[in-house]
Amino acid sequence: MATVRSIAQPDSRAMDFVSRTHKMLINGQWVEAVSGKTFPTYNPATGEVLSRIAEGDREDIDRAVKSARAAFETGPWSRLTPSERGRLIWKLADLLEQNLEEFAELETLDNGKPFKVARVADVPLAVDLFRYMAGWATKIEGTTIPISVPYAPGAKYLAYTLREPVGVVGQIIPWNFPLLMAAWKLGPALATGCTVVIKPAEQTPLTCIRLGELVQEAGIPDGVVNIVPGYGETAGAALAAHPGVDKIAFTGSTEVGKLILQAAAGNLKKVSLELGGKSPNVVLGDVDVNAAIAGSASAIFFNHGQCCCAGSRLYIEDQIFDRVVEGVAEQAGKIRVGSGMDSTTDMGPLVSEEQLNRVCGYLESGLSDGAKAVVGGSRFGDKGYFVKPTVLVNTNDKMKVVQEEIFGPVVTAIPFKDTEELVTKANDTVYGLAAGIWTRDIQKAHRIASQLRAGTVWINCYNIFDAALPFGGYKQSGWGREMGKDVLELYTEVKAVCAAI
Ligand code: NAI
Ligand code: MG
Repeated sequence: MATVRSIAQPDSRAMDFVSRTHKMLINGQWVEAVSGKTFPTYNPATGEVLSRIAEGDREDIDRAVKSARAAFETGPWSRLTPSERGRLIWKLADLLEQNLEEFAELETLDNGKPFKVARVADVPLAVDLFRYMAGWATKIEGTTIPISVPYAPGAKYLAYTLREPVGVVGQIIPWNFPLLMAAWKLGPALATGCTVVIKPAEQTPLTCIRLGELVQEAGIPDGVVNIVPGYGETAGAALAAHPGVDKIAFTGSTEVGKLILQAAAGNLKKVSLELGGKSPNVVLGDVDVNAAIAGSASAIFFNHGQCCCAGSRLYIEDQIFDRVVEGVAEQAGKIRVGSGMDSTTDMGPLVSEEQLNRVCGYLESGLSDGAKAVVGGSRFGDKGYFVKPTVLVNTNDKMKVVQEEIFGPVVTAIPFKDTEELVTKANDTVYGLAAGIWTRDIQKAHRIASQLRAGTVWINCYNIFDAALPFGGYKQSGWGREMGKDVLELYTEVKAVCAAI
């Protein structure tokens, strides 16, 4: 693997991109907001303004939806063959791969995550997702169905289903994996023949805007992909409520997910939601302790804990509790916290001052409720939005730090005695996104996996993602599945055609 550049050698293309004021993409044109307003995006490592971005609002969303509607109904996109659509998506993947380093740097500058992580995880996963979805464009099939029709004796019918694109899709993206979450949503929309209006998170719009340039370079027709940056309460809310949108796809907080649902009620648009989590990561007594320690540390500390599926409740069987806690705390202590552009950094800043305050608020609440920080427990430094990797013990099931999503590098370690108690505790949450199980007893692992109410269960691994694996939540963690074959259902309507023959 090539060596990672240090902060002393910034890539000139990324710096050039950052130095520009960015517009929004509507009907193939980069345009200012109707209001003329712009908003800043910050470098979370320093708190300084990186770029200014056109600030979309209701009128911009309206123009973008009209552009997406026209592209869906009458534009060249509507006449492309599935094979042609697939090739355009593949081309987009190739272009993204060719610009991998620039995208990784933009992600680091805007979001804070280490460059060395963005270049091996975020960007390659997005490339792979587009390639996987390019393959689906030619494989979206209906079925032929033998029907009986009891009130039409002797009649014959040919009945079949068609899977058609759901139409104009609004997509609201979070800031934790800005490019990858845009890819998760854009890939299946393009594969199925939909058109989209994307609203990136206000904290991290840069890679989505740059992706818009590649969409044009790939030759995807004007109006198919519209990008309207802006705030959630204005642009996001307008998109969720717009009567011209057929489906809204949202990733973010459970709180806003509920608002999306209300906003969608006006025209009963289809809704898919990928929301919060408080995922249990379970370590059984028979485990390979070192593997479980390393895996459990990365389950919570990857992406600074800003993962909807973060293994934030660490359940450890009694007899190895102290050893595992000590091991995870030791790993936490070794994590090098700093600017994501520095090649020695393992953990960058949280995305924003708001998130810094939120996570520190949780730490204060946990400590004042009687929890103890074995390691960490506070902000790191006084510049940028850094938090120390933290392991909390002495918690109880009622504490906010055990019940609520913290979305930072904070894990609560909790002992358990037997698997029955464990399953009850692990399922004692409003969420159901993911879970981890560490054990040598594979039979027990599968039994527990079947008992956990979660959309993903990892056994002897954690945070393993693949374009072919569906991802999404039970309970208040969401509606629908992204990635894999399952996501195609979210972007298609089924039409039953019945012909008398
Ligand atoms: P958020 O849910 O407010 O933001 C996510 C996206 O929704 C952003 O694009 C935002 O502009 C948009 N949005 C906000 N309000 C909206 C509205 N009324 N209508 C339409 N769109 C709206 O999340 P926030 O405030 O940035 O973070 C708060 C917490 O949410 C985090 O601490 C974390 O717990 C959770 N979160 C979960 C994510 C996940 O991957 N499931 C991602 C981001 C946040
Ligand atoms: Mg919010």
